[in-house]
Amino acid sequence: MRLDGKTALVTGGTSGIGLAIIRALRRDGARVIALGRSKEHIETFREEFRQDSLASAELVDVRDRDELKGVRDRLDGLDILIPNAGINTRVKALDLEDEALRDMLQTNLYGVFVTCQVFGPLLFLRPGGRVVVTSSLAAIHGLDLRVAYTATKAGLSGLVRSLAIEWGPKGVTVNAVGPGIIETSLTRAYMDKHPERVRATIENTPLRRIGTPEDVADVVAFLASDGARFITGQTIYVDGGISAGSSWW
Ligand SMILES: NC(=O)c1ccc[n+]([C@@H]2O[C@H](COP(=O)([O-])OP(=O)(O)OC[C@H]3O[C@@H](n4cnc5c(N)ncnc54)[C@H](OP(=O)(O)O)[C@@H]3O)[C@@H](O)[C@H]2O)c1
Repeated sequence: MRLDGKTALVTGGTSGIGLAIIRALRRDGARVIALGRSKEHIETFREEFRQDSLASAELVDVRDRDELKGVRDRLDGLDILIPNAGINTRVKALDLEDEALRDMLQTNLYGVFVTCQVFGPLLFLRPGGRVVVTSSLAAIHGLDLRVAYTATKAGLSGLVRSLAIEWGPKGVTVNAVGPGIIETSLTRAYMDKHPERVRATIENTPLRRIGTPEDVADVVAFLASDGARFITGQTIYVDGGISAGSSWW
């Protein structure tokens, strides 16, 4: 399961699930590079890893192909690519304004696609290349007020399956993790405002708790490791069993 000598790049790697993935990959020995869009998170990342020469962070917008290419051109190789950056918002489909809709599609779907296009060719140059995309339970589970979000995450399932077919012969596996309800900045404000929804979520989760970023990160670390060498094209749901079904009937 060790990743010594490997280099990993994580988009959205300076907070939430992405930061937990960075920590897990670093724990397992990989050199890690986090991309993020807020200066504040880049600075807290650099503070956390200031003693660690094998962890770095760069300010990059995943919606911008040229910014991604700029990072790629400075890399001397890559083994593990984690397109994780994503955004979400709660609004009725008919009320979602064009700018917000484009932002969602460009971050969650275009951003993942372009990240794979820009960095994928580096993976072909070394044995055992890995792509692990952060999808969501929303890929297979409809959610009101998040129609665009669920559309982007369902789209990622197709991306992962098809890219696995194209890149398998090049020795690269392409998988996704589908987190359920995880406490991060994406969900915290809603959870604080609606404790009754948190209780309902826990009651409807077979493992009876909200997930942590580390629950997701450990599965990503496994998918990035040699232990997962014969798994490709899959989305693994890390949701405490929500996608297994429910006991309402
Ligand atoms: N939390 C959950 O319950 C849950 C459930 C299912 C799936 N997910 C997925 O997990 C992933 C991570 O989300 P999270 O919960 O960890 O939330 P988060 O803490 O808000 O993390 C999102 C990350 O994406 C980055 N990002 C957003 N837009 C970007 C852009 N245009 N360019 C570069 N980076 C960008 C953010 O960067 P900054 O920090 O610099 O803004 C941040 O690091 C997302 O894909 C999300 O859809 C989360």
